[in-house]
Amino acid sequence: MTKLVLSAAAAASAMLAASAYAQSPAATPVDPNTFLNQFESTFGKFEGFRRSGAKGVCAVGEFVGTADARALSTSSAFSGKPVPVVVRFSVGGANPKAPDNAKSQRNLALQFDLPGGEVWQMGNISAPVFGASSPQQFFGRLASLQPDPATKAADPAKVKAFADANPEVLLQGKYFASQPVPASFGSVNYWGVHAFGFVNASGNKQFGKWIFEPVGGLQGLTDDEAKAKGPAFLFDDLRQRVKDGQVAFNFNLELAEPNDKIDSATVPLPEGRKKVNLGLLKITSVSEDGAGPCLTITYNPMVLPKGIEPSADPMLAARAAPYAVGLGRRLTEGAKQQ
Ligand code: HEM
Repeated sequence: MTKLVLSAAAAASAMLAASAYAQSPAATPVDPNTFLNQFESTFGKFEGFRRSGAKGVCAVGEFVGTADARALSTSSAFSGKPVPVVVRFSVGGANPKAPDNAKSQRNLALQFDLPGGEVWQMGNISAPVFGASSPQQFFGRLASLQPDPATKAADPAKVKAFADANPEVLLQGKYFASQPVPASFGSVNYWGVHAFGFVNASGNKQFGKWIFEPVGGLQGLTDDEAKAKGPAFLFDDLRQRVKDGQVAFNFNLELAEPNDKIDSATVPLPEGRKKVNLGLLKITSVSEDGAGPCLTITYNPMVLPKGIEPSADPMLAARAAPYAVGLGRRLTEGAKQQ
């Protein structure tokens, strides 16, 4: 796995140079309604559901920060006292019936409810890289995947032309293809993908990229096991494991060094960067299907506590507005989740 992350990083750096002219100018923002319309045209419209990560389940948990985390950031998340967390696990994509036994994305979205009403939100994914490095490139990729009304399938020539001009959009798919189907929401790594700045009491800012790593280790299914599990096993599996007290993650931060690239969701930090354990997240209970406190939350990664700051990654700031528009649409339609 580490080897693969390194090669993804190397490939991405090599391709960045090649694709420098292939991206739209970063100065042209994508209108959030246009973005959401494109999600619906490409993946279909499932009323009431999130336009991404539609098949999900709410849970709650507790986070306890470490002294090492307190040395990096003044955030009250790291006080060492238990902090309640509203959790959402989901399968990637807009389809609320997306199969659990495919080599696709799993998500871990978290809201830390901090003292004094402060909130920290994040949405993490089961790959070290996202599928695009700028909002314009993401929009272009979605447009290239839009099904043709006649054939009901994307035009392979358009898909290829866009990917040839923007090769980073293929890195994430290659990563998923190289990994087994996760045996559980609780047995896979989740990456934040963006860099964030951790600011301590002396005002020092350390950038890093985080990973939530399952305490019980990684567990994948063979192709035969995945087939036998069928398309809907993850929610029940999660409930059983949480009942048995088995679902917990180490919140780890890889520290960036000077000259590391920290503004791209398609370029991980180089292999071997120092990793600091920020604390332990334990999942304590899982909601009934379709219910729970995460239903009407949008996990906007720009909602950060004092002591944590965003990086200049253009994908990070670009998430806030489409998430808000997405929340507006699904609330208007009657918020649902599978
Ligand atoms: C401009 C880029 C992006 C757009 C337009 C976009 C769009 C969306 C939308 C519309 C939702 C549903 C929001 C809701 O209804 O509450 C969503 C959810 C999500 N996105 Fe993105 N996204 C972007 C980038 C990213 C990136 C870079 C990541 C990588 C970490 C990511 C990870 C997630 C996750 C984990 C969820 C599910 C959160 C949940 O359970 O509520 N997204 N995205």
